[in-house]
Amino acid sequence: MTGTTQDDYTDRYARRVRGMTASEIRALFSVASRPEVVSLAGGSPYIAALPLDAVGEMLGRLASEQGAVSLQYGIGQGMPDLRERICEVMSLSGIDGASPDDVVVTVGGQQALDLLARLFLDPGDVVLAEAPTYVGALGVFQAAQAQVRHVAMDADGLVPAALEEAIAQVGGRAKFLYTIPTYQNPAGVTLSESRREEILDICQRAGLLVVEDDPYGMLSFEGDAPLPLRARRRDGVFYVSTFSKTFAPGLRVGWVLAPHAVREKLVMASEAAILCPSAFAQAAVTQYLSTMPWREQIKTYREIYRERRDALLLALGDLMPAGTTWTHPQGGLFVWATLPDGLDSKAMMPRAIAARVAYVPGTGFYADGTGRRNMRLNFSFSDPARLREGVRRLAGVMEQELAMRAVFGPGPESRGRRRGPAAADAPGPDLA
Ligand SMILES: Cc1ncc(COP(=O)(O)O)c(C=O)c1O
Repeated sequence: MTGTTQDDYTDRYARRVRGMTASEIRALFSVASRPEVVSLAGGSPYIAALPLDAVGEMLGRLASEQGAVSLQYGIGQGMPDLRERICEVMSLSGIDGASPDDVVVTVGGQQALDLLARLFLDPGDVVLAEAPTYVGALGVFQAAQAQVRHVAMDADGLVPAALEEAIAQVGGRAKFLYTIPTYQNPAGVTLSESRREEILDICQRAGLLVVEDDPYGMLSFEGDAPLPLRARRRDGVFYVSTFSKTFAPGLRVGWVLAPHAVREKLVMASEAAILCPSAFAQAAVTQYLSTMPWREQIKTYREIYRERRDALLLALGDLMPAGTTWTHPQGGLFVWATLPDGLDSKAMMPRAIAARVAYVPGTGFYADGTGRRNMRLNFSFSDPARLREGVRRLAGVMEQELAMRAVFGPGPESRGRRRGPAAADAPGPDLA
């Protein structure tokens, strides 16, 4: 077929493809990455903090000295050496006694989520997830034709009573709870110590599996993070993590620690999708963990991000218009802001880009289109001065919008949304 248009393919797509839309983040990346734009969007770690020369030498040696293995196919479950190392890494977070046999190495945490969706979700099944939640997980659940039922969060994370209510509402259609309990993406909040047992008890009573996604637990700024859910309960908890935020996302190495009974099916699903994860990337991570000061590197990341978090919070306090609130993350990469009544983060985005600042509108993190009064702000990538400049530009755009509203009243978007309850601006979680 020559000269075909997108329309020529539309009718041929599989049903699961029809709901796929570009994520807010992906659509923004092309503009947000221009050098003149201060990007508070994205979730990139600050890779320049790595000892890149030493990493480069290590990678070179991996090819020249171990190429016969590192450039060959590997095995579906992932290299045994790496799985052992992963168990050591998890024990630092308090997950003791995990067996390398129950670890499946994946192409980032993202593939781990995809495998779990392939294993457990039929079309029409329900996944319970925090409101808001990780945009990449929403994409996976949507591709599996599952429905996401959001569960309210507050400053202490998932609200147990809201979880019970959601379980009662969806009945047996819920397959699992997907949760990011520690330094959550996008909200930056952490499930409190006391709620962790409560959430696990609720899921156990309801016979609900738990998928715990923990990419950020090691990036704590004030003391250690609370113990992961998987450290408290083995049965029914799948623990997903990644080297993307503690080492380098470009290598695409993550993993899932699964209950033993499920591990084999996970490997089969992974082999069907990718044959095996990259042997070279796995060898690189194994070598990094064996020969380089990776614990020190995590400390370096923590210090840099703590300083940047502080700079962002200070700038928000100094510059944001009255009525704006935001979370105070104790780790991770993100602050979640709630805008003054009447402002719409999605509608405001073109004006923000024109003012050379980018963020991710809150709507990207909900399956139901809510989140218009919210935005996610990333602090890992830009230095303190640039973060402040970004907030200054953003505050300027917001002040302008507020001034326009004062003169002309609500814009067409907000007027439209106010008409009916279905389209109403949902309150969303009060995370401040
Ligand atoms: C909550 C969460 N889960 C999973 C991922 C996927 O990360 P990766 O595939 O790079 O390991 C991310 C990345 O930002 C994330 O924030």
